[in-house]
Amino acid sequence: MAVESVGVVGLGTMGAGIAEVFARAGLDVVGVEADEAALSRGRGHLERSLGRAVERGKLAPDEREAILGRVRLTTDRAELAGADLVVEAIPEVMAFKSALFDDLDRICKPEAILATNTSSLPVTKIAASTGRPGRVVGLHFFNPAPVMRLVEVVRTVVTEPGVAEEMAELARRLGKTPVVVGDRAGFVVNRLLLPYLNHAALLLEQGVATRDGIDTVMRQGAGLPMGPFALLDLIGLDTSYEVMEVLYDETRDRRHAPAPGLRELVAAGRLGRKSGHGFYGPEEAPAQAPPKGTPLTFRVVGDDELAGRLEAAGFKQAAEPDVLLHVGLAATGEREVRVNLVGEGVAEVAPSLHATAEGAADLMRVLGRTPVVCRQRAGLVAEALLYPYLNDAVRMYDSGYAGIEDIDAAMRLGCGYPAGPFEMLESIGLERVRDGLRELHAEYREPAYAPAPLLEELIAAGLTAFPRR
Ligand code: CAA
Repeated sequence: MAVESVGVVGLGTMGAGIAEVFARAGLDVVGVEADEAALSRGRGHLERSLGRAVERGKLAPDEREAILGRVRLTTDRAELAGADLVVEAIPEVMAFKSALFDDLDRICKPEAILATNTSSLPVTKIAASTGRPGRVVGLHFFNPAPVMRLVEVVRTVVTEPGVAEEMAELARRLGKTPVVVGDRAGFVVNRLLLPYLNHAALLLEQGVATRDGIDTVMRQGAGLPMGPFALLDLIGLDTSYEVMEVLYDETRDRRHAPAPGLRELVAAGRLGRKSGHGFYGPEEAPAQAPPKGTPLTFRVVGDDELAGRLEAAGFKQAAEPDVLLHVGLAATGEREVRVNLVGEGVAEVAPSLHATAEGAADLMRVLGRTPVVCRQRAGLVAEALLYPYLNDAVRMYDSGYAGIEDIDAAMRLGCGYPAGPFEMLESIGLERVRDGLRELHAEYREPAYAPAPLLEELIAAGLTAFPRR
């Protein structure tokens, strides 16, 4: 059966984006909302998104009209009777979803496929609440849906043969890349992404660095498209909190307990972009400290090239310097500062308790790097956030849940990462990541920071890359 007409129930940010994706691919869409007010908000999302595409010259005005002409908006679910596929994107409350699927099951033709865009609830449970569990799947899009190229197709143990493949084919028709996975909490992307975001919220609470500092390290240093707090605001803090709860329920891994700071912001109604205020306020952009450029004497331990570059920039080496930099090493004594270079653009700067960061920060600015002041904790910010994520990816692969190529593609296309976790692991170096994990484990004694056995095994075998099948 070729899918030609699609229903989308719930036209919030995700639902409206999904409706746009279908209509852009030439399918007829019926968009359903609960009442007129919600429907008009949904129409607003759709018109703004297409309007922006026209403004940027990405879409001709008549194409926008054709796309809008393919979307019929209604508050009457009965209009879904003719749809070949219905995608649900309503709030993540099981009781709402069960009631909706109950209705859809009665309204839709028996051969129609019912899909949920849930990011956290078990698809199997939603399927089992209908009379057609074999034709209920997850179709998980990523925010912003018109931009992110991944769709996770979630099949359950009762999905009929061919249904997941048909949905994967449909995703390709939409210009997306499908990854077909089983029904585990968080699927691939949220299972790897959300613990990292939660961890960032914990580092902020522990005062390891500031909100802007952490976002700068991950965006400008690690090369991710957004820092964790900007991304939490995009996803929604309430959604993020819910996903963490569900992950914790399934894994009982204490790292998956939602960060208390998330709970506080959600309780205060600060849900991120959707409420106009989350970690960032409205119109607030990450701050950058102005360069100062104080003349200083210095000494560098652990990186001769850096010493050379500072000399070339006019600074003098001295036995008793103003600033003593330890590259990659813990600093202890007076005026000692640990420096960790992240990517091409950032330097984490972590003074010992007796020292201040300012001089070292100035030197890093002169070298064209944005300094981010951190407390001296294992892994500082970049490695503390990246390495456990890479370790989680290895464990996910080793569990048999998803293959290396699928995991890499999911993180690149679902989150806009420059590389997937296996690609990242291989470019950083397996041993370096393993050693970093050991350091994190030694400091925090967190069982999940112990290097994955498969990582140790590959290193012991002398391999520098993961064997692809
Ligand atoms: N709707 C439609 N189009 C949008 C958009 C939106 N909300 N936001 C951005 N765009 C489009 C822009 O129009 C632009 O298109 P063109 O290149 O054709 O002109 C393109 O996206 C890039 O946008 P910008 O230049 O304005 O901004 P950018 O380069 O900073 O990219 C971004 C913005 C695409 C959001 C990028 O920052 C990114 O990839 N961020 C990561 C997002 C992410 O990780 N999403 C997944 C979250 S997890 C999730 O969603 C699952 C869950 O269940 C929680």
